[in-house]
Amino acid sequence: MKYGKIMVVDDSLVSLTICEKMIGQYYDIVTSPSIAKMFQQLDESRPDLILLDISMPGITGLDGIKMLKNHDIYKYIPVIMLTSHSSPEIEKESLKLGACDIIKKPYEADLIMLRINHHLSASKQIQKFKKSNFDMNTKLRSQSEEIINLQNALASIVVGLIEYRDITTGKHILTAKRYMECMIKKMIYTNGYHNEMAKWNFENISLSAQLHDIGKIGIRDIILNKPGKLTYEEFEKIKEHVEIGEKIINHMIETIGESSLLQQAKMFILYHHENWDGSGYPYGLKGLDIPLEGRLLAIVDVYDALTSDRPYKSAMSHQDSVDLILKDCGKKFDPHLIEIFKDVQDEIQEISEMAHRSDFHITHPTEIDVLTKVFESHIGSSNDNEIEGLQNTINWINDNMANGKVT
Ligand SMILES: [Fe+2]
Repeated sequence: MKYGKIMVVDDSLVSLTICEKMIGQYYDIVTSPSIAKMFQQLDESRPDLILLDISMPGITGLDGIKMLKNHDIYKYIPVIMLTSHSSPEIEKESLKLGACDIIKKPYEADLIMLRINHHLSASKQIQKFKKSNFDMNTKLRSQSEEIINLQNALASIVVGLIEYRDITTGKHILTAKRYMECMIKKMIYTNGYHNEMAKWNFENISLSAQLHDIGKIGIRDIILNKPGKLTYEEFEKIKEHVEIGEKIINHMIETIGESSLLQQAKMFILYHHENWDGSGYPYGLKGLDIPLEGRLLAIVDVYDALTSDRPYKSAMSHQDSVDLILKDCGKKFDPHLIEIFKDVQDEIQEISEMAHRSDFHITHPTEIDVLTKVFESHIGSSNDNEIEGLQNTINWINDNMANGKVT
């Protein structure tokens, strides 16, 4: 049994023959009389280790190792330098250039065998380590993809639950998301937002915005779907959806872990009812103290409410809604974002008209329907533990938030 393939590069035929005789019974040997020939043979022979003579006419062994170590593929082959005239300078130079060892000629069979075995085994260990490192990275990548899928699935489930509970605003979450995407596209090409937007993860900004009214899960049906104008007290209850939303999102972050999706969702949840002049709720923040997520969603949230039918009011036209929003520029809304809103209002009108067509329906799926749908679209082959985790979260929401029971 041979222990590997060794390429011996030496201009001396005698040296090549001696070497082949010494170690040929243990290794497959490929001989090469020059560096040029070595490079011609490397592709086909693919040795596990190279024994390279330093003193050769023309391209020397030191030139040869320099070329090997600059090569994308051959640089990984361990090289032992052979020399008849060793000196500390030559040894240092060889090691600096990447040789793994230097052996002085004439060498003993035992010594060269031991050295070759030592370097072959080290090289195998390195390759094994690289492979296991690669496997681990691949595994980690696929695990983090799975976590992202899981979070997206959970967010979709919760969005479904909000729609299911809040029958008066079934389309609201989806249309608000589309209006927001229009605004964001314009903002990307406008100076002034890049610093704040740099913190966003654009892959899931829309999905996270869809969670902004998550707290409505905890508002009683009788208030949430009241077919008439709300009393002061009832409106105060509705305002609690921000605080309830914060509880839910904090619970999600605690159980699922930190994620950009959930952190972004938290910003939308907490700040979408703040006003530019400080008159909003729950914190009464002013101007640029209100995070961009809140300033942006505030505009599209109100536009959608104005242009939609509610049990207590009819939908206003696009133009009347825009006029009302413009009146609140600098009061409720960020004046700079209102400029963006004006720029994209035609596109927003188109989305609004499409969303409010009588043949445009959003069905209100049951929780089981939502679960099934998102498992199919997001999870695919998720394991039982993940499905159980999602089910537990749904149960937690139902137990703690259902129909106004806020704990
Ligand atoms: Fe809200």
